[in-house]
Amino acid sequence: METQFVDHPLAAALLTTMRDARSDNPTFRSALRQLTQMLIYEAIRDAEIEIFDVQTPVATTRGVRLANPPLLVPVLRAGLGMVEQASSLIPQSQVGFVGMARDEQTHQPVPYLESLPHDLSGIPVYVLDPMLATGGSMVRTIELLVHRGATDITAVCVVAAPQGVAALENSGFPVRLVTAAVDEGLNEDAFIVPGLGDAGDRQFGPR
Ligand code: PRP
Repeated sequence: METQFVDHPLAAALLTTMRDARSDNPTFRSALRQLTQMLIYEAIRDAEIEIFDVQTPVATTRGVRLANPPLLVPVLRAGLGMVEQASSLIPQSQVGFVGMARDEQTHQPVPYLESLPHDLSGIPVYVLDPMLATGGSMVRTIELLVHRGATDITAVCVVAAPQGVAALENSGFPVRLVTAAVDEGLNEDAFIVPGLGDAGDRQFGPR
């Protein structure tokens, strides 16, 4: 599986703000929005483009647009903080929603919402979730997408654990990962170490 890193001092500074336990909910949400912009830049770097003529006030020149805009799929709750920024960067994109909560005892993902187009064949899909911990939630989400015909899937995450990267690799699904960091590992509660805590709680408060 291909892993692409956003390797930039501004991204590193925003990730630091998100990691910092002193950052309050609005500060965390703002850093996530800005970092999402960089993650999406990286994710879309090699996307297919169409060339068309555009008339400037002076002359006709070569214009560019995305040939096949992706479907954006935030994984609720934490992915919600990424979708507005991603869709404003790619205004032609459509948005689907998956709700997935990780059981605190078993750490297994429990799907509670699936609002997606029926047929995803031929459509690139960007799954937005700040955290890839065990990888269970992402693999379960990708299963739902593949079931609808998706063959070109990008997991867009802020921070990943090596276990999550391995889970994506071992899933055999057609996925690549775009992230700002792969951290040391997981603790006994399956939280990423050092990570950034619980990205849902840090944006919206505890549930
Ligand atoms: C977090 C996170 C991922 C998942 C990662 O969500 O946003 O969806 O856990 O863990 P995994 O890789 O081990 O599956 P959580 O279940 O806490 O829900 P929330 O976004 O509603 O807070």
